[in-house]
Amino acid sequence: MKKLEQLYEGKAKKVFKTDDPKLYIVEYKDDATAFNGEKKGQIAGKGAVNNVMSNIVFQLLEQKGVPTHFVEQLSDRETVVKAVEILPLEVITRNVSAGSFAKRYGVEEGIVFENPTFEFSYKNDDLGDPLMCESHALALGLATEEQIETIKKYTAVVNETMKEFFLEKGLKLIDFKIEFGLYDGEVILADEVSPDTCRLWDVKTNEKMDKDRFRRDLGNVEETYQEVLKRVQK
Ligand code: TMP
Repeated sequence: MKKLEQLYEGKAKKVFKTDDPKLYIVEYKDDATAFNGEKKGQIAGKGAVNNVMSNIVFQLLEQKGVPTHFVEQLSDRETVVKAVEILPLEVITRNVSAGSFAKRYGVEEGIVFENPTFEFSYKNDDLGDPLMCESHALALGLATEEQIETIKKYTAVVNETMKEFFLEKGLKLIDFKIEFGLYDGEVILADEVSPDTCRLWDVKTNEKMDKDRFRRDLGNVEETYQEVLKRVQK
């Protein structure tokens, strides 16, 4: 397969066309941003960690019945994926209070929820990805009712599967953000699953093992990404 011209460059990945119109190649970068691009930096080795980790998780999710964009890993930073049209909804599930949830409601981090939460953000950098309720997503025609039902069903499976998988690796899945796309009219999981997009706390120490180390200047950022990959690969 031939890697053709770049289609898009996001904050953490580039997307390239290929000689097959149904396939793209994604290339993961070491660039890191936070607070809607206000804070910028690099995390050496992050692109490779996020690529390899996403691919491991996507293959596991496929086994659990969640269709994903994953096709084939080409190199430590490059993967062939299905050419989806991304739905402009960030889908977030939380098992434990942290981040914007803790801030919005004025509560501490670490409250374990009896049931996981489910929320959307409108994927729009100009607006700062605002929280969005389901009826507003429908009103704007961002997804159909049927697509939203499918997204909810898949997200519940993603949460249960990843919670169990990460726990086996000594990591608590606090929350995560995923994105879906349309491929042949069907909703499939796309984008990535990585320490950029999940909060993971060490089971024994509650140490933060994710991008919060970069967002909050906690140190050992590169080492933490490598440690997460090492555990995920075991
Ligand atoms: P939040 O607590 O800041 O709303 O983040 C919830 C989850 O979403 C957390 O696991 C980090 C992830 N996330 C992204 O993947 N991209 C983003 O731009 C933001 C703000 C959060």
